[in-house]
Amino acid sequence: MLIHINEEKLHFHLTNGQVSYIFHIMKNGQPGSLYYGKALHPGKLYTHFQVYDIPTPNSSHLPDDPAFSLETIRQEYPAYGTGDYREPAVTIRQNNGSHITQFVYKNFSILKGKPGLSGLPATYAESAEDAETLRVLLEDEVTGAELNLDYTIFKSLPVICRSASVYNKGKAPFHLERIMSSSVDLPDHQFDMLHLSGAWSRERQLKERKLEAGIQSISSLRGSSSHHHNPFFAFKRPETTEHNGEVYGFNLVYSSNFLAQAEVDHYGTARIMMGIHPFRFEWKLEPGDSFQAPEAVMVYSEKGLNGMSQAYHDLFRKHLIRGPYANADRPVLLNNWEATYFDFNEEKLLSIASRAKELGIELFVLDDGWFGNRNDDTSSLGDWETDRNKLPEGVGWLAKQIRNLGLQFGLWFEPEMVSPESGLFTAHPDWAIGTPDRQASLGRNQRVLDFSRKEIVDALYEKMAAIIRETGLTYIKWDMNRNITEAYSPGLEPDRQGEFFHRYILGVYDLYERLVSEFPNVLFESCAGGGGRFDAGMLYYAPQAWASDNTDAAERLKIQYGSSFVYPLYSIGSHISAVPNHQTERSAPLKMRADTALFGTFGCELDPGILSEEEKEAVKEHIAFYKQHRRLIREGEFYRLLDPFKGNETAWTAVCKDQTEALVGWYKVLAVPNGRKQEFLKTAGLDPDGIYEISQMEGSFGGDELMYHGIPLPAEFNGVNRGHAERGGDFQSAVFYLKRIGRR
Ligand code: DGJ
Repeated sequence: MLIHINEEKLHFHLTNGQVSYIFHIMKNGQPGSLYYGKALHPGKLYTHFQVYDIPTPNSSHLPDDPAFSLETIRQEYPAYGTGDYREPAVTIRQNNGSHITQFVYKNFSILKGKPGLSGLPATYAESAEDAETLRVLLEDEVTGAELNLDYTIFKSLPVICRSASVYNKGKAPFHLERIMSSSVDLPDHQFDMLHLSGAWSRERQLKERKLEAGIQSISSLRGSSSHHHNPFFAFKRPETTEHNGEVYGFNLVYSSNFLAQAEVDHYGTARIMMGIHPFRFEWKLEPGDSFQAPEAVMVYSEKGLNGMSQAYHDLFRKHLIRGPYANADRPVLLNNWEATYFDFNEEKLLSIASRAKELGIELFVLDDGWFGNRNDDTSSLGDWETDRNKLPEGVGWLAKQIRNLGLQFGLWFEPEMVSPESGLFTAHPDWAIGTPDRQASLGRNQRVLDFSRKEIVDALYEKMAAIIRETGLTYIKWDMNRNITEAYSPGLEPDRQGEFFHRYILGVYDLYERLVSEFPNVLFESCAGGGGRFDAGMLYYAPQAWASDNTDAAERLKIQYGSSFVYPLYSIGSHISAVPNHQTERSAPLKMRADTALFGTFGCELDPGILSEEEKEAVKEHIAFYKQHRRLIREGEFYRLLDPFKGNETAWTAVCKDQTEALVGWYKVLAVPNGRKQEFLKTAGLDPDGIYEISQMEGSFGGDELMYHGIPLPAEFNGVNRGHAERGGDFQSAVFYLKRIGRR
């Protein structure tokens, strides 16, 4: 049993021995928060954790109890207008203009397993035994709004998944203006807030700041989760490290506008909430209508930041990513984008593909430029038929030739977009998003299709399905290269325009769902100008995401390190590209590029024809090495060891669950003259009693020794040891394969 309820006291306790989440119904009928953290014993009431007897000059909603002020009480899902001056989790606008609601308890139910969220991505339980869900129903009597709060606890993960939905049981319509997916009032704010922020080409950079009085938030208003802030933040104790200490992580399973906010009040309570961004959001609910908010995934770890990340990785691998690729090796792919950009023909592609095959590549991906009349980024989006100038025999024929070479075939699409210069736009200019009386802004010379309208999603489905059938492809890179402006849909009534952004992403999810259902063997890789929509919502449909357009190894260390806070390695699209790098003009050695790409999906983003014979051999070896160990990358427990945001070195490891094997990656961006004679890298996750062999090293090592003293690193050139040094210069790297050969 994972959910313990005292029906008399209305005390709800979710626990699986790792984490406890406890709340109760307070004397005014509203739910009040009691505890969230390390597991507590379930056979006890914790009502005394709710302290509200501080005499305050505040307003009280209970005439006979002046101390009962919502201003000082830790609440479970706060509403607006009855004495809590912090930001609420939910607001409703009545027809008379009132925004006041008071949601009081009606009943609860327990569901075995986990119900899906209609039209939205969400974590799932494979069997009814995997999880239990508590549903608490609250009601606001005046509006007739019913609020369902869902809490799922998984049997063996320190995870609580939450979502909320509103149903209009009343007689009049109202507008839902805000509905957070989760809200938690933690009793103190002694935390550092971590988040992943950045920009195009430098996504998911780790940021850290002390949580202070007032509101701190990250968000997106771009119509995608964005390059700029990932829908994730975490709160760690100041003393928490990668390996030890307390941390709370929050991640939204959603790909559009979001708000993740922490509000520290005058008593030091930290209200942490996450959900659809309320700015410009509203949803009209007629009597009988309901609205489902996306899911938030909360992880509690007492095993440091690595413990939090491992919980996210396990959850997403087992309970979010679907289809045959959830538990299968990802093919090593070669993508032609940086090899050719728009400048290709059949001969060039087939020559790249046949060379790719020689290297050991398994999947050839034809990126942008194969359709319409697209020779640059100014035209043809929406015209999803072969460009016969470049591919006279058609993309179906090309796919067949690629398959004849022994490779799988994949294609690039950007389904949500239309170029003003395209057949689609000429036929349907009104399909593009825009306000009727204003000029539309362009982004990368393109407009955005109005995916809030079903007929447009239907049309795109038909176009994509036809190409999938024609080519028999097994992979799609689904790109999205601009954010939304002039957000307005002629398909929506004026008082429903606030629904636009959410309806748009529901349209995107709908198209994905139809394609993954009809073509379950197609592997989708999501992309948005690189990592502009790398979120858990996308992972539900697309098991991997192109992490960034920046393929420079030194930059990738940071991007992949940041991504690993939430997302499993086998979802992080990472490729070897040519040098000088196309984003930074930096020239890192092939080894460093390959050693970095190894900790991800691994692939190539170059023309093998530019490689020297020696480089070809090296790439072949790296690909073979990846194939040999990709299961570790897919299933292993990942530990971050050295932080690229704090120093010159990065290190990480993937250790298989039974600790018999591990891969350790170590990277040093700049050479250090006259450094230590011998450096050691402390690794993690090994069996301390295990005896390990390390690839290309003589002897054997204790697991304890490798973790507490370190793996001996190859000697660095220090200015005088010429002839004895095994590495030198900038961009050094090493990958070690560790195998347990016995136990003490
Ligand atoms: C942006 C992507 O991130 C690139 O990898 C490439 O697919 C281009 N778009 C194509 O236009």
